[in-house]
Formats: sequence, structure tokens, C-alpha cells
Amino acid sequence: MGEYYLVIAYLIASVLFIIGLKMLSNPASARAGNLWAAFGMGLAIFSTIFLYNPDAITTYKLSLIFVAILIGTIIGFVVAKKVKMTQMPEMVSLFNGMGGACAALISLIEYPHSAGQTSTIAIIMAGLIIGSISFSGSMVAFAKLNGTLKKSIRVPAYNIINNVLLLAIAAYAVYTTMQGGYELVPLYIIFAAALAYGILFVVPIGGADMPVVISLLNSFTGLAAAFGGFLYGNQVMLTGGILVGSAGTILTLVMCQAMNRPLTNVIFGGFSENGGPAGDSDAQGSIKDTTITDAAVLMNYSKKVIIVPGYGLAVAQAQHVVHELEEALIKKGVEVKYAIHPVAGRMPGHMNVLLAESNVEYDKLAEMEDVNPEFTTTDVVLVVGANDVVNPAAKTDPASPIYGMPILDVVDASHVIVNKRSMNVGYAGIDNALFYNPNTSMLFGDAKKVLSELVSEVNSM
Ligand code: TAP
Repeated sequence: MGEYYLVIAYLIASVLFIIGLKMLSNPASARAGNLWAAFGMGLAIFSTIFLYNPDAITTYKLSLIFVAILIGTIIGFVVAKKVKMTQMPEMVSLFNGMGGACAALISLIEYPHSAGQTSTIAIIMAGLIIGSISFSGSMVAFAKLNGTLKKSIRVPAYNIINNVLLLAIAAYAVYTTMQGGYELVPLYIIFAAALAYGILFVVPIGGADMPVVISLLNSFTGLAAAFGGFLYGNQVMLTGGILVGSAGTILTLVMCQAMNRPLTNVIFGGFSENGGPAGDSDAQGSIKDTTITDAAVLMNYSKKVIIVPGYGLAVAQAQHVVHELEEALIKKGVEVKYAIHPVAGRMPGHMNVLLAESNVEYDKLAEMEDVNPEFTTTDVVLVVGANDVVNPAAKTDPASPIYGMPILDVVDASHVIVNKRSMNVGYAGIDNALFYNPNTSMLFGDAKKVLSELVSEVNSM
């Protein structure tokens, strides 16, 4: 009977994962979607504990399990509460690494019990290799993002070394599996080599490319968990792993597509240490400065203002004050909306999450395809800490490294005000012709400070 309830619980949990994932695709339902998926995971965990093999459950085992769950819950809760929006990719990478480690540990524990069963050993090997790579790779990504590991280390011919190592690991794993998996030493050699490969795989990649790599590693973890599901014949682990694996793969490809870069270019290099491809652009000319007062007057007497948030807005933590500016302008009768580029910031959905945090209404967030035709009828575009996502070179300069990347067509608006601190480049490391356009004015300064001053100025008019 318990087994019957367990299958039903797994089915409900799997359905909740799928519903939760679907709800994550819209900012309005994302929070609830996350909770539904978490509820599904809770259901899967507790039904496994109590229904999988009730006769084997002792008070001692239960207390061990619940102490572990309690410790994990407290750490996860505190970390998630404390994390800043700009640190989100490193938190994801840390949590993802833990998933990979779990998959690898499962393989290490189950291997000695599976000697002689070739197909089981094969599944164990797959989980071990993928989980270990995901774990060590995620830890390197974490260290890069939090600044512990500052340089991308590239030994000569690193791509060849990495590929040879990966092939050697795969070949040795196949050999060990064919031998029946009676020896423990090969298991630990494969474990150590896979950990080393994870490090070597991520170490050469530029720090700013980490979000793409993390998403890729995330799909590896999903795959490793799915192998765990095969191993135990556990449907919910299998479904969860497949969902994570496919969602991570799709996200990786979508990010690469939105940046107009093939995945191979991310993995095998090409971008400089700061994230951008070392190289210059031809953008030149003179720029026009503006003042807080002039910018506030221009916006105050406009019919329609579109705000373009970028990475700088996130760094400056200016999401609340940009919302204040939006409210101040709306009070003056100005129509205001936000234009969201799919890869603005440094992680998928970065701008949506940031603006949702400051309670900007979802219907004020316009996706790139929907908002692009509107710029021709827009009086003022206020670009806040964005650079590459509004760089016309993506359309006009075939020699530009971002050529082909879809951009927000802000140049079509009557006036463009760009707020950033200097003429420094963005992630792609290239100059931006928009800043030299006759209808563009530069409003230099930290986004939070500039926006607060704009709010006071607009309110005083
Ligand atoms: P970027 O092109 O990186 O430009 C951000 C600009 O913000 C910089 O030029 C910087 O100029 C300015 N800035 C920094 N701190 C600031 C502050 N405190 N106040 C005001 N401005 C500040 O950003 P974007 O336009 O959002 O484009 C995102 C880039 O990241 C794209 O190239 C994209 O391909 C890449 N990328 C995105 C993702 C995802 S999934 N979102 C993942 C990986 C890579 P100053 O230094 O002069 O202030």
C-alpha cells in the first residue's frame, strides 16, 4: 500500500515541477511557480523518507536525516535571504555545485554494491563523471564570480589537453564498466580525473562568461541527477533531473543566441579577461554632456519616456530609485515604461527580477521585440547603466564582435539620455556609437545618485 502512495506522491511532485517551471516563464507567476516546485520537492523528499521502505526506518536514521535537512535548510535560507541581486549567479553556481556533488556521492556509495551488474555500473559511472565535473566546475565558477579567482588561466593548447583528458576518462570508465566494477581504485581515479576536468574546463573561461557556463553546468547536474533516478528506479528524481537538464540546455542556447555567440566561442575562449573581446571600435566624435536639471526638464515635458536598465543599474542597486523616478514622471502625466533586453545585466531575467524587487508593475516591462517599434514615437529614452544592449554596431558594423546581436533600437527615439559613470566600455569591451549620436546626451555619475537627483528635480517642477 505504501508503495502505491509513493508512486502517487511522485506523480504529483513531477506534475508540480512541470507547473512550477512553466510559471517561472512569467515574472507575475514566477514566485508562486517557485513555491509550487519547492512544494513538489518537499513532497518527493518526505514521501521517500516515510514510504519507500518504512520497515527500515529507525529513530536513529530519522534523526540523522532530519538534522541534515535542518542544517541544509538553515544554511540555504540564510544565504538566499542575504544574497544581493548582483551575487545571484554565484549563489546559483554554489547550489548547482552541491547538486553535482550529491550525484557524484551517490555513485561513490552505490558502486561497491553493484559489482558485476554492467548496466548499473555504466549508470553509476555516468553519474559520477558528470556530477564531479559539475561540482568542481561550479566551484571554480563560484570562485571567479566572487573574486577569489581573478585570472582566467590558459595553459598552451588547453583545449587539446582538456579534450584528451575527457576522452581518457570516458575510455577508462567504459573499460572499468566492462570489467564488472569489482575494483575500487579505478572508481577513485575516475572521480579525481573528472574533478580535475571540471576545474580545467572552467578555469580558462573569462569571468564574465560565467553565467553561460553556470547554466551549462546546471544542465550537467540535471543529467547527473537523472542518472541517479535511473539507478534507483526513482521516477521523481528522473523527471526532476530531466527537467533541470533540458531547461539548463535550452537556457544556455537562448543566452548564446541573444548574445549572438556560438557556445563553442564561450567555452573555447575569445573574450578578454574583463569579459569583452579585446578590440577597438570605430565609434568616434564628440559627446554632449547634460545636467540633472536639463534631463529632468526634458523628461518632465515629454509625452512618453522609455527607461532602458542595464548591468550598471544592478551594480548601483538603483532599482528602487528608478521606480521612484517612474512614479514621479507618471504623476506629471508622462507615459513611462521599461525596455528589457533579454541579456541586459549578467544573468537571464536579471532586469525583470531586479525591477520586480522594487515593485515595478509587470505590464510596464516591455520585451525587446514588442518595444522596438515604439522608439520612433518616444520622446526620451533614459539608458541607465546599459551599454552593449543599445550599441548600434550590432546592426551596422559587420566587423563588430557583437554584430548580429539583437539590440534595443533606442537611436530611433527623439532624445536619448545615457547615464553611466564614464566613457568606459561594457561587457563586450567595445565603444558605443550611440554615445556620439547627435540626439544623445550623456549624464555621467553613479546610477543611484543620478536617479535620486532626477527624482528630486522632477518632483520640484
Ligand atoms: P554592459 O554592456 O556590461 O554595460 C554596463 C555599463 O554600466 C557599463 O558601460 C558601465 O559604464 C555602466 N555602469 C557600471 N556601474 C555603473 C554605475 N554604478 N552607475 C551607472 N553606470 C554604471 O551592460 P548591458 O548593456 O546590460 O549588457 C549586458 C552585457 O552582458 C551584454 O554584452 C551581454 O551579452 C552580456 N552578458 C549577459 C548575460 C545575461 S544572461 N544577462 C550573461 C553573460 C553576459 P561605466 O563604467 O562608465 O559606468
